Amino acid sequence: MASFLSSTLFLALIISAVAAQNGLILPIRKDPKTLQHIATFKMGSNRAAISAAVDLGGPFLWFSCNDYASTTYAPIPCGSAKCDAAKGIGCVGCNLPPRPGCTNDTCGASPYNPFLDVLVSQGYAEDTFYAKSGAPLPEYSFSCMDKDYLTGLAAGATGMLGLGRTQISLHRQASAKLNLPDAFSLCLPSSGAGKLEIGIKPRSVKTTPLLINPVSTYPIYTEGDASDEYFIDVRGIAVAGARLNLKDSYFSIDKNGVGGTKISTMQNFTAVHNSIYKPLARAFAKAASDLGIRSAAAVAPFRACFSSSSIARTAAGPAVPEIELVLAGKDATWRMRGANLMVEIDRKTTCLGFVDGGSSPRTAVVIGAHQLEENLLEFDLVSSQLRFSESLLLSNTSCSRI
Ligand SMILES: *[C@@H]1O[C@H](CO)[C@@H](O)[C@H](O)[C@H]1NC(C)=O
Ligand SMILES: *[C@@H]1O[C@H](CO)[C@@H](O)[C@H](O)[C@H]1NC(C)=O
Ligand SMILES: *[C@@H]1O[C@H](CO)[C@@H](O)[C@H](O)[C@H]1NC(C)=O
Repeated sequence: MASFLSSTLFLALIISAVAAQNGLILPIRKDPKTLQHIATFKMGSNRAAISAAVDLGGPFLWFSCNDYASTTYAPIPCGSAKCDAAKGIGCVGCNLPPRPGCTNDTCGASPYNPFLDVLVSQGYAEDTFYAKSGAPLPEYSFSCMDKDYLTGLAAGATGMLGLGRTQISLHRQASAKLNLPDAFSLCLPSSGAGKLEIGIKPRSVKTTPLLINPVSTYPIYTEGDASDEYFIDVRGIAVAGARLNLKDSYFSIDKNGVGGTKISTMQNFTAVHNSIYKPLARAFAKAASDLGIRSAAAVAPFRACFSSSSIARTAAGPAVPEIELVLAGKDATWRMRGANLMVEIDRKTTCLGFVDGGSSPRTAVVIGAHQLEENLLEFDLVSSQLRFSESLLLSNTSCSRI
């Protein structure tokens, strides 16, 4: 008996070591209508296919369970260790016939749909998670969401996949279950299939520290909770090589969690504090004009727009002045070029894809999805570093080809 057990254990160790080498891969596509980036995977005993919007700073996975059936589904009981790990609040019940998403004595979850700006009271549950490649993740913690609260998600998407700094985000659960270092890479496609990969070997050279904002950015939280989102230490911004004269205070996070720079897949475009936007747009328009690019009427939400016919094209998108984020760390500047900077409105007009974040945003610089596309971003939670490739288009590749 003892030797049977130990050989089973040995086999299990070999299997998990093999899986660990492979890690997990989830394909990501861009929904052209909502501009959301959608990951696909399977859940439960029937391997239900789920499409969920990638939420880089989101705390956990949630999806609609109204039509979900699985014999391996189990609610997470209130007061359990798994409930603590999920930071569950209270105990929820349900007076309807039992089904996934309707159980008693269940650890309370608060899934949030940012497109609808609603927070819903639900319960945590667990079931098996299957990525496109890699080992299954049994007993994966997530929350159901009632189907009435899916408004705003891309057609076909029924949930959101959280990759934040929590105990129950995808990379954290996957790395714990597969015994991998806690690191993942995200390559958002502008078209074709991008990918989310867990269990990565570092590839990008440029590195900058990941920062923790001490105050939660979620709609509800307990005093003392830090933000689950990813902040980086941008120190300044340069346009066409010339650094803008901006107050340092925008770039640091104060004790109330205000200020600084985060990376978000929930915003279409990079949004900056109004006092950054104005000099940025002015410097960009001036540098563009120096290249013979002609201004055009603004098209909301953008303010700096140009005549498409006056802009030359390169492999990395429209030939426009570069915008650089000057970062803390060795040779760390994040150069943004053509395709990441510009948005083609139609054949006549192309706009700078940065938006004015107003005069009192919580976070001064929010780097949005358009600026992340076709860039390989590697989040290493072990060393607390972000590695980034800059535009893959410059090396004649893309998220769908790496
Ligand atoms: C992103 O763009 C889409 C398409 O224009 C729009 O429907 C959506 O409201 C935008 N999302 C955000 C968060 O601004
Ligand atoms: C929860 O408990 C109540 C009271 O005992 C019961 O009426 C109800 O059917 C239960 N709900 C589920 C989903 O089991
Ligand atoms: C770019 O990559 C494509 C596909 O991999 C290849 O066909 C093409 O020749 C490459 N172009 C250059 C300029 O290297």
